Amino acid sequence: MAKKWFKVDAVEWIKSDKEQNYSVGLSRVNGQKICIVQNNNELYAFDHKCPHAGGHLSQGWLEENMLICPVHRHKYDLRTGRGAGMQGDCVRTYEIKQINEDIMIKLKLSTLNPMNWFK
Ligand code: FES
Repeated sequence: MAKKWFKVDAVEWIKSDKEQNYSVGLSRVNGQKICIVQNNNELYAFDHKCPHAGGHLSQGWLEENMLICPVHRHKYDLRTGRGAGMQGDCVRTYEIKQINEDIMIKLKLSTLNPMNWFK
């Protein structure tokens, strides 16, 4: 399936911990909500909704390189999105990179509104 890099709209950082050097926030890419995590100057991107029951991951926090959902506290690996232990679930991750001031995310074209493919 074809993928394309899209520029992220402004990130609304919701939770930050200066001591542990991370921030978790919400952004939109072509109208799709994406959870963005910045941890020790590395960026990660996830589906906004938790695969367990739809909690908003952008309101979560980090513990030992795991993103914690604020609803039932399922844990997802920052790099792979794989759920911890016996959870048996995983959250979709996206390639993400920063070019100067712009944050870019790679999305499958099929997940987007076809009217926006060529913008
Ligand atoms: S909704 Fe995220 S752990 Fe249940």
